[in-house]
Amino acid sequence: MATRRVIGAEHIEAARRRGRLTLEILPDDILTPLAEETAARLGLALVQGPIERAAVARSDGATSLRRALHRRSPKWVAPKPVPPREARKLGKLALVGSGGVGATIGLLAAQAGLARDIALIDITPGLAEAIALDLSHASGISRSETRIQGSTSFDLIKQADVVVVTAGRPRTPGMTRTDLMAANRRVIRNVAEAIKTVAPLSIVIVVTNPLDEMTAEMLQATGFPRERILGMAGTLDSSRFRQALAKAAGVTAADVEAICLGAHGDEMVPIISRALIKGRPLDVFLSKDAIDEAKRDAVAGGGQVVALRKTGSATLAPAYATIELIDHIRGARAGAVPVSVMLKGEFGLHGVVLGVPCELGSRGLAAIDELTLSEDERTALSGAAQAVRARLGESGS
Ligand code: LAC
Repeated sequence: MATRRVIGAEHIEAARRRGRLTLEILPDDILTPLAEETAARLGLALVQGPIERAAVARSDGATSLRRALHRRSPKWVAPKPVPPREARKLGKLALVGSGGVGATIGLLAAQAGLARDIALIDITPGLAEAIALDLSHASGISRSETRIQGSTSFDLIKQADVVVVTAGRPRTPGMTRTDLMAANRRVIRNVAEAIKTVAPLSIVIVVTNPLDEMTAEMLQATGFPRERILGMAGTLDSSRFRQALAKAAGVTAADVEAICLGAHGDEMVPIISRALIKGRPLDVFLSKDAIDEAKRDAVAGGGQVVALRKTGSATLAPAYATIELIDHIRGARAGAVPVSVMLKGEFGLHGVVLGVPCELGSRGLAAIDELTLSEDERTALSGAAQAVRARLGESGS
């Protein structure tokens, strides 16, 4: 048993000598009558503990956005407290594509127990089955209760609540995401056809590149409402941006709040005007050059992994970033996160898929938060919209 702390007059005197005006007394402490008397005499307040410490700043996308949204001086209105929500466990999470990203999402999802069933699909015979079996073998240690199955057949995605699509070719060194357009468009069309038939009520998260274009393709090919077709890129790009800023400032990523909007590629829009390090604007910590370099790192992060790896693209951070979206869908996290969705006039843009701050829920997209951006950032967002349209062979405003 731990020994109880006895606080005597000498402790009070020592605390006062160190300049302390208060002393926290914990429920188990023994305070001598002389100590109490000495505290009163020396003007040291004895405070009944444990004192609640300020919560550590969290820097996930939703928190970043919530803070950014309400940092409006001088007439800002305090945000309504987010009511605590019961996180919903998904019935079935289907993963179409069982490569590095799909398998890692499976691992994280099983570990978190966020679905009753996980269905892995891949066209390569045996691959999805192997990953499913391998993950199931870990349950003797992880004690995960999730049922995991793998197949080459789309029948397995039947009645999925959420379908994550990572299927398609990844980049290899020297390729841009756009180079994958033709090959992955065909993949997306096939997958869309299957989803439409087998899981017509599902929410689809597209991860296949080029991300914004493939999300648009999925929307068109399924004919689903825009609420149920979400492109995952903004949570990944934002995470990379926060990491780059943290590294430049010599702090940890938990001290940084920042998001990226726009397209997943060269037209990414890292939002500087609302980024914070330890609650203060970036220029308190970083030079303009350092900020620009962090922006470049966010944009180039995926390519840096491809260049090192040579045989494919990043898998771990994209998987985490996908889980972040699933957690918003199932109510484990609240607030807005950057997601690629079809815009219908938001940010002055219409009929284009682009990364914007979205609130998600059990039906997918619940609302788009129109952040106030700087002039440059709005211009960059419009530029991104034009680039996505051009790549899809569309014209328009
Ligand atoms: C990346 C790929 C997934 O950014 O687009 O790593």
